[in-house]
Amino acid sequence: MTLQEQMTQTVQKAFAECGFEASFGRVNLSNRPDLCEYQCNGAMAAAKQVHKNPMEIAEAVAARLSEDPLFDSALAVRPGFINLNASAEAAANALEQIRADERLGVQPIGGGKTAILDYGGANVAKPLHVGHLRSAIIGESLKRLYRFMGYEAIGDVHLGDWGLQMGLIIEAVKDEQPDLPYFDESFTGAYPAEAPFTISDLETIYPAASARAKNDEAFSARAHEATFRLQQGDRGYTALFQHVLNVSKADLKKNYDALDVHFELWKGESDVQPYIADMLAGFEKQGVLKESEGARVIEVARPDDTKEVPPCLVQKSDGAYLYATTDLATIVEREKLYRPAEYCYITDKRQNMHFEQVFRAAKLTHLVPEERRLFHLGFGTMNGKDGKPFKTRSGGVLRLEYLLKDVKEAVYERMAETDLPEEEKQQTAAVIGLAALKYGDLSNQATKDYVFDLERFSSFEGNTGPYILYTIVRIRSILRKAAEQGIGAGKILPAAGPGEKELQLQLGRVAQTVTEAFSEKAPHKLCQFLYELSNDFNAFYRDNHILKEEDAARQSAWIALLELTERELITLCHLLGFDAPERM
Ligand code: ARG
Repeated sequence: MTLQEQMTQTVQKAFAECGFEASFGRVNLSNRPDLCEYQCNGAMAAAKQVHKNPMEIAEAVAARLSEDPLFDSALAVRPGFINLNASAEAAANALEQIRADERLGVQPIGGGKTAILDYGGANVAKPLHVGHLRSAIIGESLKRLYRFMGYEAIGDVHLGDWGLQMGLIIEAVKDEQPDLPYFDESFTGAYPAEAPFTISDLETIYPAASARAKNDEAFSARAHEATFRLQQGDRGYTALFQHVLNVSKADLKKNYDALDVHFELWKGESDVQPYIADMLAGFEKQGVLKESEGARVIEVARPDDTKEVPPCLVQKSDGAYLYATTDLATIVEREKLYRPAEYCYITDKRQNMHFEQVFRAAKLTHLVPEERRLFHLGFGTMNGKDGKPFKTRSGGVLRLEYLLKDVKEAVYERMAETDLPEEEKQQTAAVIGLAALKYGDLSNQATKDYVFDLERFSSFEGNTGPYILYTIVRIRSILRKAAEQGIGAGKILPAAGPGEKELQLQLGRVAQTVTEAFSEKAPHKLCQFLYELSNDFNAFYRDNHILKEEDAARQSAWIALLELTERELITLCHLLGFDAPERM
């Protein structure tokens, strides 16, 4: 049990003994750290219930607590707060429990249940944009959090691979290489194994075709026709489409690998096309499909809606399926193959309404049972300093390689003083650069927009990824020296000074932080914790000469604290999706 949980238990007991409901005894972190470490505000609520003076209640409860070994002090203050300080013994003992647990005291509440995380969401053959970058970074972190909480977490990249872009590419390739067998309707042989284009070809084919379609109506009509034929299963087009998919996927995989983002499933919108007809027939039978100007919709508005929720459009008047249709069919497939307890989708918040409609439609049509948890995390935009969606220096689209290179270079320049050999310095700059990028993103509340500020993100000081890594590296260096001098970790002792106690209390809050970050889908809470822990550690380090300490028991208690600090820091960095170098 964490220190705070022990405190809550004890204060609840005290409330009960004074004749009040135990539930008033909840203990929180103090919001006046200058006055006390923890506090209980229950006396005020209890006073309301029994029409008594809150101060009297607080005093009665505090009097009982003063004797308890958990507390160094318990003080009633106006108008009825109970200010609490932990005893140094209790803080040290609680830490010993965390230290002995390889999960740092975090309860695996997932209990092995399956969760699908739908993130990444790149569109095949179309350029990545900042929204895809954010989805990858946030989604990977959430997936790691789900795992840590004991879920069987499955990441699905859910590629956008079923749109007009495919028809555009097919027609553009046909114009350039009309003799390819994919366009010969009488061809019955085996199609070539080799794709007729490379990824860099595709990178120029798509934007050119897309631009052309805007002015060239005949071309645009052909692209629509080709998309339709592909979706009807045309043999040659399907084979060509497969080449586009393979070439794109290989390139995307490289990009995601560079970000340390990995998917268990590389599925896409095209994979669920086979489910659509049956699904719609089922909807038809249930009588939930309405005609609306020739299109088919499911009405999902509710009387208590505070804003308008338009009907979910599943088929256009020309018979075409839409984004919502594919997402519903994807739910059909996921229920069939994985029966996940939870779904978590991570996209730009401009898709909030889309997911609201899809979730409602899925429950209304019983594609999923009522208790299924469907969750959408809609994130804000990563802007440049000009306040517009971020673009790399090459202008136009986001090229991940360039972005990563820019971040790496910014970090490299700040590593001027290191004496690492050149090759290691380069590799280390890349590791730190990834942390700078991810931490810069994740330290903001996901739903908000933020400004990508390379200067700030790559700084070794302040609330940044490099600062956290720097702290880890510093601890590792002390631990190496201690090991060389034969100093090992001992039992954690009651803190001898305020800095040591601060550090201990912060270390003791890890489980609660991780659990909260998980349940609120809020990786920024992990960042906040990392920053505070790093500050606490660095203050402690400044005030104590660990390797020169003469009291051997104290010294090995400190080594134990260092080991635990390093473990907590590195565990949370992993949950955010990055690693620490050995040296920097
Ligand atoms: N491809 C989509 C986009 O670029 C994101 C896909 C998100 N996942 C989903 N199941 N809809 O916006």
